[in-house]
Formats: sequence, structure tokens, C-alpha cells
Amino acid sequence: MNTYGRLPVAFVRGEGPWLYDADDKAYLDLLGGVAVCTLGHAHPAITKAVCDQASTLVHVSNWVNIPQQAALAERLVALSGLRNAFLCNSGAEANEAAIKMARVHGHAMGIDAPQVVVANQSFHGRTMATLAATGNAKVRAGFEPLVAGFIHVPFGDAEAIRKLGTERQDIAAVMVEPIQGEGGVNVPPADYLPQLRALCDANGWLLILDEIQTGIGRTGAWFGHQHHDIKPDVMTLAKALGNGVPIGACVAGEKAAELFKPGMHGSTFGGNPLACAAALAVLDTIENGQLIARAQVIGARLSSGLKARLGDNAAVVQIRGRGLIWGIELDRPCGPLLNLGLEAGLMLNVTAERVVRLLPSVVMSDAEVDQAIDGVATLIEKFLAS
Ligand SMILES: Cc1ncc(COP(=O)(O)O)c(C=O)c1O
Repeated sequence: MNTYGRLPVAFVRGEGPWLYDADDKAYLDLLGGVAVCTLGHAHPAITKAVCDQASTLVHVSNWVNIPQQAALAERLVALSGLRNAFLCNSGAEANEAAIKMARVHGHAMGIDAPQVVVANQSFHGRTMATLAATGNAKVRAGFEPLVAGFIHVPFGDAEAIRKLGTERQDIAAVMVEPIQGEGGVNVPPADYLPQLRALCDANGWLLILDEIQTGIGRTGAWFGHQHHDIKPDVMTLAKALGNGVPIGACVAGEKAAELFKPGMHGSTFGGNPLACAAALAVLDTIENGQLIARAQVIGARLSSGLKARLGDNAAVVQIRGRGLIWGIELDRPCGPLLNLGLEAGLMLNVTAERVVRLLPSVVMSDAEVDQAIDGVATLIEKFLAS
């Protein structure tokens, strides 16, 4: 269907941070299939895990034990310090599970119509509940009546949520992204998540963190919230978890781990042996390669390089981000940069109209990081001068 405005390019293969078209033209991939291919393309360890599992057992129902699923859930629990996990196939589905949990939690609090507090400029998915949660009128438009039960507040403003809590008795949960991705790489104040944690504790609300874009090393920590020394009650993951094999997870801490009982939620494909084998290989590869630390190094290099080249440009409003997620906000819409990037052999992204978003992989060498900085800066300088 006509759901995407597509770029005039098709890639036939990938290798590490590079994509190639049918003419064998190389493109440095700074989008990673939208924050998915953190380990780059055709990573040998992921390829091997997928091929081995595909030639053994691809799928069985969730009515039987699936050892790969149990192993993956245990790994996610160990990495996050949370208690258990529900596995699904996408980010929107992981958030649907989290929203259902918020409702169950709210009913247990004695609330008839539990509300989830969400942020403006957020993005949580395209299903009916997740688009109602999404703080972007363009995403919601045309799909009314929207699913009820979401209250939007400004992002980064814990005080707005505290005030709401004094006015309303029907709040069950707060759901935010640690850094808003689609919304423009919006980085909240450093005390935002700790303040939300304290508010949720004081009021009995669940703190749900949508780590679908920020999780699995993207920010230079396994999960974005780990920079702030807090734990959520529920965390959702997808995107980089399978490095391109579709998989999502809704991971729950003590307060949320027992909300679902048998029969309350499910998924045919969720957590099948193939997807779990891919995700286990992703986690192993990051761990064995010490790639969380490498994401921090790449982040620091990108930050200083981009700021050195573009920081003094009057048309560059801000350069912000962390690890492997960066936004360069310009003072004007910059959609044409996408095609100009392709011409220059760069696959990048523009979000929130004026923000060039970079979501590079962790498998870039220092020389490739420098190439990305030079390529992006040159492109932006040319665009701004035109
Ligand atoms: C923060 C966040 N949540 C949810 C989603 C939806 O994920 P999916 O497209 O896998 O449903 C996205 C996708 O961009 C996202 O960035």
C-alpha cells in the first residue's frame, strides 16, 4: 500500500556499516534500518546463529517450553535487574503489552478508567493504543476515535506530572522514552528520569520506559535509563534486539512482573526459537566485544567532531544525543538532505522536519566515524549555503 514516501535507492547487500546498491555503489549507513542494525549488516555471528537455528527449528507454539526464549528472558533480566519478560515481534507490540499492564495495575489500584501519562513529541508505535499514546498529532490524524486513557504532558517536565498527580486520582502509569528518537532526538534534563521514578514510587504508578530506540547499547549503556541509576517497572525493547530479525520484549520489574496471568496476553510468533537465537547472538556479540564501551567512544568522537565542524554555524540550533543516537537541529526544514546524502553515499535520516538524525552502528572504525562526521558536516554546510 501507499504507506511510505520512498527514497530512490535499493540496497542489494550490506557489510558492517556499509550498504551497496545494484551498481555496487557504497553508502555509509547512518540510519541502520532505523536504529535496528546496531551491529551493522551481515554480522557473521548473527548470520551464523540465524542459519544454525533456521536449519534446526524455526517455530513452535508458545504452549510448549522454548529454551531459547527462557535463555533470552534470563539475559534481559540479568542485564536490566528486572524480573521477567514477555516476548513479541515489534516495538508497538511491546508497548501494547506495557499499556495493558498499566491498565491491569490501575484496576488493581481501584481505578475504573486508568490513565497513562505520556509526553508530547513521543513516538510509541502505529497500533491503535500506541498511536493514541504517541504525542504527535500527525501520527494520530485520521484514526479517530482514538483509544482513551492517555494524558499528554510536555517532555522533560517532571513538575507537570507532579502537578497532574495532585489534580487527578486516575493515573496508573507514566510512559516516556529516555531520549525521544522520532520526536527529534530530544534529551531530557539529567534529573528527569530520577524525578519520574520518585513520583511513581510516591503515587503507586508504574514507570514504563520505552527503550525501543534507546535500548541494546544505543546510548552507550545497555539501556538508556542506566545512565541515571534508576530502574523502571516496565521496559519495552525491539529494534536492535534482533539486529534485523523482528523481535520485541516487554520486561517487567517486581511491581509489574505478576500483573499478567495465563490467558491475559499472548502472541503466535512472539519469542520463537529463530528470533530468540538471533537476539541471544546480539547480546553475546555486544558483551563479548565490549561494544557498550565502544558505543561510548564512538559517541564522544561523533560529538566532538560534529560540534567542531558545525557548532559555530549560525543555522545549527543544537547538536545533541548520546552514544549512537545524535540529532543535529537546523533552523529550517531539511528533508532534501536525504537525497543529497544518497548522492554523496550517505544513508541518513531527518526527523521532526528540522533534525538530521544519525543512528550509526557500533561496528565502525575510527576512520569510518571520521568519514561520517566529514560527510554529514559537508552535506549540511552545502545545504545551508544553497
Ligand atoms: C521509541 C519507539 N517506540 C516504539 C516504536 C515502534 O516500534 P515498531 O515500529 O517496531 O512497532 C518506535 C519505532 O520507531 C520507537 O522509536
